Amino acid sequence: MKNISLISDVSTLKRQLETTFDGNSQKRLHVDDESEFFGLPNKVKHLFKKHKKITQLYDWQIECLNLEAIKTRKNLVYALPTSGGKTLVAEILMLKELIVHERNVIFILPYVALVQEKVQSLCPFGLNLEFNVEEYVGGKGKHPPLHRKRKSSLYVCTLERGAGLVDCMLADNGQLGGRSVGMIVVDELHLLGEQKRGALLEATLTKVLNYNQSKYNIQIIGMSATIGNMQEIGDFLNAYVYTRDFRPVKLTETIKFNEDIYVINKDIDGSVKTKLDRKLHFDVYSDDMKRLDPSGIGLLVREILPNGSCLIFCPTKSSCLSIAKIVYKTIGREETQVKLKEKEELYKALKEEGDGKVCPLLTRSILFGVAYHNSGLTNAERKLLEEAFLGGILKCICCTSTLAAGINLPAQRVIITSPYVGRDFMKRSTYRQMVGRAGRAGLTESGDSVLLCQENDKEKIKVLLESGIEHIDSCLGTEENVVLSMILSSLSSGCTSSQQQLIDLMKRTLFVQQAEKRNVECTVASDLIESCLDKLRSINAFDKPVEDKLKLTTIAKAAVAANLDILEAQKLYTELLEASSALILTNKLHLLYLAVPYTECITLDRQNVLDIMTNLQGDQQALANRLGLNELCISQFYSYGKIKNVSESIWKKFLMSLILNDLWNKKSIWTVSETYNLPRGTIHSFLSRTASHASSILRFTEALNDKKLDHFPMLFQNIVPKLNIGILGSSSDLESLMSLPSVRFGRATQLFKAGYKTLNDVAKANKKELCKVIDHLPLKVAREMIASAKLMLLSEAESLEELAESLRADLNQSMSKSKENLLWF
Ligand SMILES: Nc1ncnc2c1ncn2[C@@H]1O[C@H](COP(=O)(O)OP(=O)(O)OP(=O)(O)O)[C@@H](O)[C@H]1O
Ligand SMILES: [Mg+2]
Repeated sequence: MKNISLISDVSTLKRQLETTFDGNSQKRLHVDDESEFFGLPNKVKHLFKKHKKITQLYDWQIECLNLEAIKTRKNLVYALPTSGGKTLVAEILMLKELIVHERNVIFILPYVALVQEKVQSLCPFGLNLEFNVEEYVGGKGKHPPLHRKRKSSLYVCTLERGAGLVDCMLADNGQLGGRSVGMIVVDELHLLGEQKRGALLEATLTKVLNYNQSKYNIQIIGMSATIGNMQEIGDFLNAYVYTRDFRPVKLTETIKFNEDIYVINKDIDGSVKTKLDRKLHFDVYSDDMKRLDPSGIGLLVREILPNGSCLIFCPTKSSCLSIAKIVYKTIGREETQVKLKEKEELYKALKEEGDGKVCPLLTRSILFGVAYHNSGLTNAERKLLEEAFLGGILKCICCTSTLAAGINLPAQRVIITSPYVGRDFMKRSTYRQMVGRAGRAGLTESGDSVLLCQENDKEKIKVLLESGIEHIDSCLGTEENVVLSMILSSLSSGCTSSQQQLIDLMKRTLFVQQAEKRNVECTVASDLIESCLDKLRSINAFDKPVEDKLKLTTIAKAAVAANLDILEAQKLYTELLEASSALILTNKLHLLYLAVPYTECITLDRQNVLDIMTNLQGDQQALANRLGLNELCISQFYSYGKIKNVSESIWKKFLMSLILNDLWNKKSIWTVSETYNLPRGTIHSFLSRTASHASSILRFTEALNDKKLDHFPMLFQNIVPKLNIGILGSSSDLESLMSLPSVRFGRATQLFKAGYKTLNDVAKANKKELCKVIDHLPLKVAREMIASAKLMLLSEAESLEELAESLRADLNQSMSKSKENLLWF
């Protein structure tokens, strides 16, 4: 009965899609078409023109795509300055792998926002060129991936989720979702040098390299703007190295001392020469304005108005707000008359996202075309501001350095208000990434940057400008947990099984290669493996070895499947076991408590904790009692600032779970932010980390297949989807709309109110109609939203069809068996 309804579901969905969508997208592509585009059908060229406004490739892009290394499928790493068009080259290579070689691709990006931006912009390509686009961020994305054999799939992921996908691939003979993986692309490869995340990326790539050598040809492509030792990284990845110094638009770098602006020029020997370019004229300022803006930041913004746009990098989160205030108060009232209707729409959209409330500073500043952008804002608010900036509604954004690396937001001018990031003097790579945002390819012919300097930083700034790009040093050796996970995942996938094989794997790491170059003892690989194996034995990660082969315990295997480190997994196992003896299921609080990550870094202030603990309500009190948090604990906290008889991780987790519970009970993010004295953005990032941890718990309990914990998968399946979309109190009606990459709570609510209640409604929508009914929806985003909805439905329909086919095949097989049995009788 279930099968019949499934099959009828599939056919209805498919029929709907075929009648609604462009019939062309259903035709197979002929790659040997006369008019090819780097081995791709000519249609791809049109798609680049239509969706990215790219009509011609740069010379270096053509040269790079024609490299012998590409033709022979060698690994490739390439480096060019920011905005040089690197990611675009990788996109062409990925399309080729997906539609010509019909193999899957894993595309690893450093930040959630970048993954979402890429998923959104690649959906129209997936729809037209017939491949799936799968988003893997936080807890989003099935693990292991759904079977999608009919079409190849592009898995766009953060590096944490990429690590999990690579483990799945290694455990499944080089396949994901039933198809071989042909390529792994790592954008912003310099991440290799970051402490924990860099080590994880290095371990992931090492496993692929080790696997590649013995089995399939998975091509690795990596790119970056800022790697000083590119050849060394190329050697580690066994890759061809390609570097060029190309920028599509001219960049003029300047530096400001007092009222003078100097152009920076570099001599052939690398030394910096400055030449006076102009003076800032403070006489247009009133006395009040001079007092407010002694550095003249507003004057620098005025210079590029009315047509230009400007990014202002500020040293801290809070300075973004104060500088936004200075700018809107000093750029002149004329700006309030520009694009008034669009600004009103932006305001309404922000209000919808913020449960009817907008930050008072933004309310005022967007009228002047000015905004701030930092981690204190929610992702949804940031996304709306980014779209407004790209659409020319906002002219100026005051942000922290993370924006330089996080998203593709070019501006005509970049102002760096101080050479510091927080308290630290800026690194060369950070400076390059910031100034690299100046100049919009295809929109402006040139861009400029202004670095504001104080007299006492002069010498350091000279060094900053004259120094070469930083080298990447491996961090793997100092990240024991990452090495332990690398060992376990490699054993679990069957890629290695003995100590010697693990030593060989270790020898492939950048860490060992760099250590050997520095003539550190040549036993570094074997020593490290030896000490890690000792550690793993001491925490009982192995069962008894069979013929010298290392064999993982069930918990260790489940830890690998869930991407948890082994100690965390063991702790989780004990916690779940304890919880299940008296799980409180009258509300979601106990489950939310279990979902909070152990390493959660947010701390609430003392008075806040006391207020919360002394005012616990019924369900909160019940969980507190269950965890042993009683009056004595409160008095201990009052006296010592900590609780002595309950472990810190428990009471901290408890406090964090109260935040989640309030959101689950539909309290607005503004109220929660006030109650716990935390910025809205901080709460949102906490939600995203919890989503990721909750989906790890789900995978862990599924993989354990332990009778004592067998109720947990179902319980976590109930909370993971809501945690993933980041709005716990939303009605489930909005959930499917919010699975679209560009749709957050506000947009989903507006879509729903306008009658677009399901993905199917959005898929059938007309983009211009959508823009009319949704506040502040750019046409490009509407087009991408419709394409995403179509693609998601098609993928879903095809998955159901595949399932129906396999059920049918199973049924046929069992029927023919029973026929055989009948004959035999
Ligand atoms: N040949 C081209 N013609 C016009 N625009 C292009 C071309 N190649 C890339 N672009 C555009 O230039 C911008 C920067 O390109 P891309 O993101 O590929 O550069 P990048 O080198 O990866 O930059 P980053 O260092 O910031 O990652 C994008 O908007 C992209 O669409
Ligand atoms: Mg890029």
